[in-house]
Amino acid sequence: MQYKIIHIKTKRTEQEGTLSFFENNRDIPFDIQRFYYIYGAQEKTKRGGHAHKKLKQMLFCPYGQILIELYNGTEKTEYLLDDPAKGLILEPGIWRNMIWEKKDSVLCVAASELYDEEDYIRDYDEYLNYLKYTHVKG
Ligand code: TYD
Repeated sequence: MQYKIIHIKTKRTEQEGTLSFFENNRDIPFDIQRFYYIYGAQEKTKRGGHAHKKLKQMLFCPYGQILIELYNGTEKTEYLLDDPAKGLILEPGIWRNMIWEKKDSVLCVAASELYDEEDYIRDYDEYLNYLKYTHVKG
């Protein structure tokens, strides 16, 4: 599994809204060490442009619509995060871009490691080289 969409467990009520939740290891395949979120972005904002060597993540969008472009060295895939109950699990070694399809969409990320700039590959040629010389294929 390099990336996959999961359905985040959700309880809907008639008048009082909807509650979604996930738990370490039970619902997502790693322990969460860090949580971060991006908000206040204009429509057409493009972020990302990097891969991670070790980090596992789950991306979800509790408000708005964000297109996630993925590349694993072999194939390109796109996922539209347009439902708060959709989670996108990303394994290490995947190049990603995030594109704001709607202003003020919120991107939340649950991550398996603490922040470490050394874990990032921010140069695309370096990424392609990294794939050649490691066993990680996205
Ligand atoms: P980055 O991961 O490059 O954001 P994006 O992929 O959305 O464009 O992070 C942007 C900046 O924030 C960068 O300087 C690193 C810093 N940062 C932290 O200090 N801690 C964190 O947990 C994260 C995710 C980023």
